Amino acid sequence: MKKLRKAVLPVAGLGTRFLPATKAAAKEMLPVVDKPLIQYAIEEARAAGIEQFCMITGRGKVALVEHFDVAYELEATLRQRGKERELAMLREAQLPPGSIVAVRQQEPLGLGHAIWCARAFVGEDPFAILLPDDLILSETPCTLQLARAYEQTGGNVVAVVDVPREQTNRYGILKVGHDDGKLVEVVGLVEKPRPEEAPSTLSIIGRYVLMPEVIPHLARMERGAGNEVQLTDAMAKMIGQVPFHGLRYEGRRFDCGDKIGFLEAQIAFALRRPDIAPAVRQFLANYQESA
Ligand code: UTP
Repeated sequence: MKKLRKAVLPVAGLGTRFLPATKAAAKEMLPVVDKPLIQYAIEEARAAGIEQFCMITGRGKVALVEHFDVAYELEATLRQRGKERELAMLREAQLPPGSIVAVRQQEPLGLGHAIWCARAFVGEDPFAILLPDDLILSETPCTLQLARAYEQTGGNVVAVVDVPREQTNRYGILKVGHDDGKLVEVVGLVEKPRPEEAPSTLSIIGRYVLMPEVIPHLARMERGAGNEVQLTDAMAKMIGQVPFHGLRYEGRRFDCGDKIGFLEAQIAFALRRPDIAPAVRQFLANYQESA
């Protein structure tokens, strides 16, 4: 079994739920506390042993790639001013030379199309996908949990969580075979089913480990829900061809592509930061009183 070393990060979506913030700037550059979403995703991937990164970018997304460059002038100024802590913070965001590439998705035709754009990067290797607007707060980074499951099972492994039945029409939903409470066998997949038609309430979140065999399925460019090329539809074609599991990951997921999810993430992540948690707790108490 090949070791997981590659990650694809699709960031070419339009971010319509976050307009007007996303009119000229990328949603994935929005910070949660003080770190942009894209940096959380890259750090999570690195914690899982991933060494090569491919961002699927589009118009107005250049800053996402530049965020991982060395900022010479800024570093020099910080050094001059003795700002060692800030300097160390910048260093954390840097990636080894040559470890990040960007591929353009000229038109946002869907997540499946975005992943297909990474076909040359993927080659014959297994790869992780991280959707940076899904932010996960957990003891063990979610991608590391997936990588460990993949080492056990091989094949595709996707992170899953139970959602309220009335929300199945927002997600890719699993039809479940054997279920040991943590790892579930995937025997079917449906993208955004109506609640009454959903085969379960187990939904896929924005973390995947996929086999390169998904690429030829994507290459057919079949349109699915919303007339987009859906990743879920291509993955569904792999059932029976490769082992396929869902992992009930440990942690809390925040949909930061959505205003409410984004605000909740700010609070949850701020409360984990010893430097600001007391102040945040205090102002939250004020709001509770006035609510
Ligand atoms: P979303 O469904 O969140 O779409 O995409 P979006 O365009 O980013 O946001 P809304 O729904 O309009 O507010 C999930 C992920 O897939 C990427 C997005 O950047 C996001 O990380 N994506 C989606 C692409 O890269 N290309 C696409 O054509 C579609």
